[in-house]
Amino acid sequence: MKNMKSLASALLTPAAMLVAFSVQSTLASEGVPPLATLPPPPIPADNPMTPEKVELGKQLFWDGRLSGNGTMGCVVCHQPELGWGTGTPISFGYPGTEHWRNSQTILNSAYYNKLFWEGNVTSLEAQAPPAAGGAVAGNGDGSMMEMKIRFVPEYVEAFREVFGTDWPHVSQAWQAIAAFQRTIVTDPEKVPFDRFLAGDEDALSDAAKRGMALYNGKAGCIACHSGALASDERYYNLGVPAAPEFSSDPLYQITLRWELYQKGVPEEVYLAGSDDLGLYHKTKRPADKGKFRTPSLRELRWTEPYMHNGVFATLAEVVDFYDAGGGEGNTVLTPIGLTDEEKSDLLAFLEALSMDEPLLMEEPELPETATWAEFPK
Ligand code: HEC
Ligand code: HEC
Repeated sequence: MKNMKSLASALLTPAAMLVAFSVQSTLASEGVPPLATLPPPPIPADNPMTPEKVELGKQLFWDGRLSGNGTMGCVVCHQPELGWGTGTPISFGYPGTEHWRNSQTILNSAYYNKLFWEGNVTSLEAQAPPAAGGAVAGNGDGSMMEMKIRFVPEYVEAFREVFGTDWPHVSQAWQAIAAFQRTIVTDPEKVPFDRFLAGDEDALSDAAKRGMALYNGKAGCIACHSGALASDERYYNLGVPAAPEFSSDPLYQITLRWELYQKGVPEEVYLAGSDDLGLYHKTKRPADKGKFRTPSLRELRWTEPYMHNGVFATLAEVVDFYDAGGGEGNTVLTPIGLTDEEKSDLLAFLEALSMDEPLLMEEPELPETATWAEFPK
């Protein structure tokens, strides 16, 4: 409570504080951190950022040589103009496969302590190898990808400059990509809600201000979507409906069964597999079935569709889902009873948590692969 007060008074003008404070005080006893402006992302001590490393990471993020067939670089499933995702409910997979989950935006992934929908990886550096190597994602072999980048003279030079080694190592490629991803973050000056927190009371419409009160009060969103990222990074089962693809398409069923098998679930669970079991895959605790990591609610305007399987195309559908008390099997939500006006107020507030414009980026130019004979010795 003390922290909250000092944080609030540091960020808000007196009038804004009154609004933010009165609505947030209802939950203060639960010790939930209020929404706040994002600080710059944390940088790990063993992977410092330099402009050269970020630039190299950007090229590698676009580079299909970091995949099995030369075309499935990170950007294919994390496209700037599609909110750094795929825009489809379930991401497409490596050619010949389908994926099983919605491609998360990489916007603000720099802030999470737990990555992926089941939060099973704890740093961007550790996240990139399974992304580039996973059979339904990049499907690249580590040593083959390393050889491919060693045959690019410009990369050899750039890696030497950035990492000080004679030859590129694939682990350094993941470090550079992680550094690049730490630049794909929200700019608070472009976000109405953050401008409001900084003292511009007109930055939020009246509807958005009422929506903020609902978010922090009656609608209870703050209980899980809290803090600067609007995520507590915990896991809940909201009863999000299963992806229709799992009952209609053998390629999706193959991926689902394969994931269950890979992750070592008991045979009876594997044989009955008809949906993504989320956190259970990691813990094998029956109570964790259907639990997924709370995602950030920043940049939602640019990152549809929503939920771990993209089953909701619009934010209005998401709000209706919560209003009805979640889906079948949900273990945390109860019906809210919002009026139509309250729903549109809440939507106005959710939209005010996004930048005024999407974060776009030009495709970088990629250096050529050379034959060994052409290499500077
Ligand atoms: C074939 C599509 C595909 C490719 C290629 C791909 N991704 Fe992903 N990415 C996804 C999907 C789908 C998820 C969600 C997977 C999950 O939660 O199990 C994801 C999740 C992520 C996340 C986690 C975000 C969060 O909020 O936790 C990051 C970061 C990420 N990808 C970065 C990368 C990088 C870096 C590469 C290249 C090395 C890459 N991806 C390649 C589809 C892809
Ligand atoms: C009990 C914790 C909890 C509460 C309360 C909660 N959420 Fe969520 N929210 C989650 C989790 C967990 C997910 C991911 C669920 C999944 O994909 O299966 C999620 C997903 C979302 C998404 C999708 C985001 C994306 O990028 O796909 C939106 C939008 C959202 N919530 C908005 C809200 C709103 C609005 C409220 C208040 C009405 C709310 N949430 C209340 C935990 C919660």
